[in-house]
Amino acid sequence: MNNQDKIMIEKETTDKIEIKTKNGLNEQEQEVKMDNMSDLDKTTNGLGEKWPEPIIRVQSLAESNLATVPDRFIKPPSQRPNETITINQQPEDGAINIPVIDLSSILSGNQKDKERISEACREFGFFQVINHGVRPELMAAAREAWRSFFHLPVEAKEAYSNSPSTYEGYGSRLGVEKGALLDWNDYYFLNFLPLALKDLNKWPSLPSNIREVVDEYGEELVKLGERLMRILSSNLGVNEEQLQEAFGGEDFSACMRVNYYPKCPRPELALGLSPHSDPGGITILLPDDQVAGLQVHHGDTWITVNALPNAFVVNLGDQMQILSNSIYKSSEHRVIVNSQKERVSLAFFYNPKSDIRIQPLEQLISSTNPPLYPPLSYDEYRLFIRTHGPRGKSYVESHVSLVNG
Ligand code: OGA
Ligand code: NI
Repeated sequence: MNNQDKIMIEKETTDKIEIKTKNGLNEQEQEVKMDNMSDLDKTTNGLGEKWPEPIIRVQSLAESNLATVPDRFIKPPSQRPNETITINQQPEDGAINIPVIDLSSILSGNQKDKERISEACREFGFFQVINHGVRPELMAAAREAWRSFFHLPVEAKEAYSNSPSTYEGYGSRLGVEKGALLDWNDYYFLNFLPLALKDLNKWPSLPSNIREVVDEYGEELVKLGERLMRILSSNLGVNEEQLQEAFGGEDFSACMRVNYYPKCPRPELALGLSPHSDPGGITILLPDDQVAGLQVHHGDTWITVNALPNAFVVNLGDQMQILSNSIYKSSEHRVIVNSQKERVSLAFFYNPKSDIRIQPLEQLISSTNPPLYPPLSYDEYRLFIRTHGPRGKSYVESHVSLVNG
């Protein structure tokens, strides 16, 4: 939370606007205490097999024709979106968008596009790629298979209900804090790599083609991730393979979170996904081709991403900021919802091996550039968001080396 938010909240408190969450903690009191993380039991990761309270499926709420959203989904005024999305509205001429990069031109040696990715990684941590090599038919098939899955009756999906210990399966919240405010989405989380974690029985069996399509989609996205890793590595001025090696070489991991954002009766009060940076390496997002909603924090505004047809939206996670010693930025982003149309997005995460220690690349460190982050395994790092839920960039910002402060 930045200072501006704090001031807003204090002001609102004196105006007697209720901003306390159900557990009676206000936002400041809920701020992450990184020290507490070391208390968690590392062997079972401390997250347990049960959610702290009964799970509310957002889709069920959306389908019950409520006139408003339950209190648990109402954000404090300072966090509410100040604009809402109108479906099928063309972006205004000259509206800022995230950079669009032609990947085939980089692979055939175009230096200019390579530099544009470099700039995007340093400035936004966000860009979209076209001509990326993944067939548009496969992209559409994967999105539509997941859309059909979410359209199954709620009971059919409950069979895959997830737990906080692994997050695998059908879920409706991030974080295990009792009484926390919730986001307007349901999701499905699954693992592709390492192969030991890939368990097709934990993937839905309906619609009938979903496992096959998602399997192929995962393979293609792994290849795309590998290509991006080489470009990002080379753009740091280190060997092409350096970042991949830091991820554990062939032992890197990959997983996916499919987000389902139902129509929301009061989109101006809620968020589909609260501000966060992704904890991992590279995120390759297949946005909904009909409905916008993803916003990137840039300067003091939120830019609505206007994805081109058949493009992927790529963003860097916290591990990239750490490995690059903050040359690259993980980006804060959020999702806004609307009352007219549901939205489906597929977020593929290309991540380090879970138990390898991640720290700034040696080649980027010197006496004038000391390491900004202490080593921490990705598994331990990920516990922050899995425990406390989305909290802007607070995790990476508090994960700093003692040398510097
Ligand atoms: C995510 C995410 C954005 C979207 O899943 O981490 O940021 O557009 N998704 O759904
Ligand atoms: Ni994200």
